[in-house]
Amino acid sequence: MKAGFLGFGLGATLLVSSFSCLSLPSPADKAARPATEIPVRATEPLRRQYAEIRLQLDRLDGLVGSLARASSPERISTLRQITELLEEQILRNTAEETDRLYLSADRCAGNASYRFTASLCHEQVIAARWMLELSDEAGKPSPDLTAFSRRADRLLGLLDAHFETEEKVLLPLLDDAMTPDRFRREVMEGEAPPLPPSSIPWARTYAEALTVSKALGKPILVHFSGPRCRACRKMEQVTLADAEVRSRIGQAFVPLYLDISADEESAIRFDVVGIPATQILSGDGQVLAQQLGFLEPKAFLAWLQDAGRAAP
Ligand SMILES: [Fe+2]
Repeated sequence: MKAGFLGFGLGATLLVSSFSCLSLPSPADKAARPATEIPVRATEPLRRQYAEIRLQLDRLDGLVGSLARASSPERISTLRQITELLEEQILRNTAEETDRLYLSADRCAGNASYRFTASLCHEQVIAARWMLELSDEAGKPSPDLTAFSRRADRLLGLLDAHFETEEKVLLPLLDDAMTPDRFRREVMEGEAPPLPPSSIPWARTYAEALTVSKALGKPILVHFSGPRCRACRKMEQVTLADAEVRSRIGQAFVPLYLDISADEESAIRFDVVGIPATQILSGDGQVLAQQLGFLEPKAFLAWLQDAGRAAP
């Protein structure tokens, strides 16, 4: 059995190259969905993989349990089966899970200063270390079966708890935050969504930005972005990375970053017809100014100055 992209548990668009193929679902489309439709969990494909991996863990448990009563030649074969299963089904895909699943969960959790998945990541580090120790022991001319079995039991216990945390905590978070299509593209197929420029303290939800805007008395600057959008990347890596632009945004606005592939409601609410798009919103959510497409830093600063005058 192949674990696919994820082992132990070891292992995201609307848009648009610029703004030519935006296809947001209309409110009428949404209203037309039958009331009895059962929602498909975004993480269903991964849950199926996890179920298969759990079967492999059960098999591993049985193999470890059989060591004590196995004959000497059987023990060597069993040790090899255990270490190969661990390597092929679990260890090999650790990096992919960390790069895709965990980063997506961290984005959905919305707190850039602390990794939501920090504990899970660390469990993977521990598990990888224990797997290597098992492999080393199994490779010795006279393996210590008691030490091997104790380490293997400890590892299987850790993996069992790790999977349970992923299934009960991590995957429900992703089910709430992602559509099945986004999950497939971002996690299962590894198409990474954009990350907002880290030097700007972006709010990640409209509600969060509104709260800060009211507290500080500043208008909101919204950067609408999305994956598969080259102009968005250029806007983020060139214009929004410019020191003068960052300084101006920090002084005068509450910055809000919205990935419209993840937040279609906001895109519809603010009539976003393409990305990248920049809007200035008043404290009560009125659109004061809008800029569509990429602008060089100087042109963007000039637009910000004009847009800032429109703000109360
Ligand atoms: Fe995991």
